[in-house]
Amino acid sequence: MTTANSGVAGRILVPGGYGAVGEGVTATLERWFPGRVVPGGRSAERARRHGGVQVDVTDPRGFERVLDHLGDVAVVVLCVEPPDATVARICLERGIHLVDVGADAGLLAAVEGLRETAVRTRATAVLSVGVAPGLTNLLARRAHEEVGGAERIDVTVLLGSGERHGADAVRWTVAHLAAPTAGRRLRTSLPGFGRRTAHPFPFSDQHAAARTLGVPRVTTRLCLDSRLLTALLFGARATGLLRLAARPGPGRLLTSLFGRVHSGGDAFAVRVDAHRGGRRVGYAVRGHRQSRFTALVAAHTARHLLHAPWPLGVVHLDEITELSDLPARLAPDGLTLHRLVDGASR
Ligand SMILES: NC(=O)c1ccc[n+]([C@@H]2O[C@H](COP(=O)([O-])OP(=O)(O)OC[C@H]3O[C@@H](n4cnc5c(N)ncnc54)[C@H](OP(=O)(O)O)[C@@H]3O)[C@@H](O)[C@H]2O)c1
Repeated sequence: MTTANSGVAGRILVPGGYGAVGEGVTATLERWFPGRVVPGGRSAERARRHGGVQVDVTDPRGFERVLDHLGDVAVVVLCVEPPDATVARICLERGIHLVDVGADAGLLAAVEGLRETAVRTRATAVLSVGVAPGLTNLLARRAHEEVGGAERIDVTVLLGSGERHGADAVRWTVAHLAAPTAGRRLRTSLPGFGRRTAHPFPFSDQHAAARTLGVPRVTTRLCLDSRLLTALLFGARATGLLRLAARPGPGRLLTSLFGRVHSGGDAFAVRVDAHRGGRRVGYAVRGHRQSRFTALVAAHTARHLLHAPWPLGVVHLDEITELSDLPARLAPDGLTLHRLVDGASR
C-alpha cells in the first residue's frame, strides 16, 4: 500500500463518520484527500446521504464484508465506540491502520494487546486521539519531560455545557459518572475560566498516561463551564443518585436528559500539571467545541499515517514524535496553548 513518494494509497473508512466528531473528521480529511473518504454508520439512509456506507461496529462479520466490498481501505478512523477490540483486530490483521477516538480505558488496554499483530502486518493503531484523551496526553508528555520526570500528573478537563455533544459521547460521560471514583476535588485555574473546582472523573489518561510515561500516579478530574451545573452534577453523584446510570433504563433516561442541557457556552479547556519534588510544570489549552478539536486531532493523526505510517504497532498519540506540535498546529483553528506558572495561566 505504500508508494514511493506519495505515502499510503487507499481509502479512509470513518465509522461514525457523520456524528458530532465524525462529521469533522470526514470533512477535514475530504479536503486533504478528495474522493478517498468513506463515512459510515448503521443507518443506510443517513450513510447514503453522506456519500458513505452502512456499517455497524457491533457486527464483526458485517464490518469485514464492508472492508471486502471497499477493497482498498488503508486507514479506519473509528469515531464511535465498539463493544470490544474485535473491529481493531480485524483492521490490524489486514494491515489496515487505525485511529481511535475512543475514551474507554478497558477498551484501549484491549487494543494495546494487539501490538504484536500490528507489528506483524506492518500496521499502526493510534489510541488516545482527541481532546481528552488526546491533547491531554500531548500536554502530559510535555510537562513530564520539562519537570524532569513527573512523580504525579494532574489532568483537569472543563467542558462547555452549551456544546451539542454527540449522543455517543454523552452516553460515555453518563456511564463514567456512575463508576466508582477515588480521589479529591481540586481547585485550579483554567485559561479564560478563572479558578474552578474540578471533581475526580475516570478519564482514560489515568491509566494510559501512567503507562506511556511511566509516571507512578496520574489523576483526572472534570468540571463544566457552568459552576451551578458542576455543583448539581457532582452533588448528585455524592448522594449515590448517579449510580442509577449503570442500569440500562435510568442510564438511557439520564443520557437523554444530559443531552438536552445546553445552558452554558461551547468553550472547553484542559490543564495538565506535572509534579516532581517541590517543582510543578503546567500546560493548558483552550478552544471552542471539543468535538471539532477531537475531529481535527483525529484528522491530523490519519494524515500522519497516510504520509508516514510510523511507529508500527499500537501507540498512544503522545508516542508519535511528529505529532507533538499539534497544539501549535491547531492555533489557526482557534486553539490557544498556555504555559502555567504558579497556578495562573499566562
Ligand atoms: N477523545 C476525545 O476527546 C473524545 C471527545 C469526544 C468524543 N469522543 C468519542 O467519540 C465517539 C463519538 O462521539 P460523538 O459525540 O461523535 O457521538 P455521536 O454524535 O453520537 O456520533 C456517533 C455516530 O456513530 C454512528 N454509530 C452509532 N453506533 C454505531 C455502530 N454500532 N456502528 C457504526 N456506527 C455507529 C451514528 O450514526 P448511526 O446512528 O446512523 O449509526 C453516529 O453517526 C464516542 O465514542 C466518544 O466517546 C472522544
